[in-house]
Amino acid sequence: MAMLQGKERAAYVQNMFDRIAARYDLMNRVMTFGQDQRWRRFVIRQTQLPTGGSLLDLATGTGDIAFAALHADPSARVIGADFSVGMMLVGQKRPNGSVVRWSGADALNLPFPSDSFDAVTAGYLMRNVIDIPRAFAEQMRVLKPGGRLVLLDTAPPPDNLLRPFILLYLKYGIPTLGRLISGNPDAYQYLPESTQKFKTPEELAALMRAAGFVDVAYKTFMFGTTAVHWGAKPR
Ligand SMILES: C[S@@+](CC[C@H](N)C(=O)[O-])C[C@H]1O[C@@H](n2cnc3c(N)ncnc32)[C@H](O)[C@@H]1O
Repeated sequence: MAMLQGKERAAYVQNMFDRIAARYDLMNRVMTFGQDQRWRRFVIRQTQLPTGGSLLDLATGTGDIAFAALHADPSARVIGADFSVGMMLVGQKRPNGSVVRWSGADALNLPFPSDSFDAVTAGYLMRNVIDIPRAFAEQMRVLKPGGRLVLLDTAPPPDNLLRPFILLYLKYGIPTLGRLISGNPDAYQYLPESTQKFKTPEELAALMRAAGFVDVAYKTFMFGTTAVHWGAKPR
């Protein structure tokens, strides 16, 4: 996987998520020691979605962020979009699965009109896309002026005293859990590898600003290994 680039990499990612879909939610809960849903609730608070507002949850997967939005405001209009149909099929079978409007979509070429959404969220998308500026341009395009983008992703382990332990967890802990829980050790080899190669939170914030987002800020969680970024489309 480390060698794959461009469209080959995108096809690998799409196929990988189709394969791990069935155990994806359980694996997330275990791997993050039950913290991941708290981060998704934080993501929803950062959207500042108006009551009954429209939200596009990109890379929705099994819909965790989409469901968190509906939990916070059942009148919200939530579209969950992803290029892995396998992940969305698992999400559709969850309680209230039919309330989310599921849409097959590539984040680099969104099938939505410009200026349509009050907020866009994306959980664990930006580490996977093959063209970050293009993904930001699409997110900017579909947001209404003043609309907010909120991202959740892993971050490379920061340089601190815990770094050796975090590296051990990434190298051995996560692939072992992946083998035991999901039966897909290669997918959970990809997660630590792509995390270590991903942008630092500051670098990602700089790319958001370069894409034209304003009021960009971020907060890190779990010893700096997870980050939530937010910003707005200029009015
Ligand atoms: C780790 S899952 C995250 C699911 C969910 N957002 C969450 O918080 O758990 C990443 C998702 O990103 C999707 N994805 C990756 N690249 C994509 C792209 N270019 N367009 C659409 N979806 C993409 C994958 O199919 C996968 O379902």
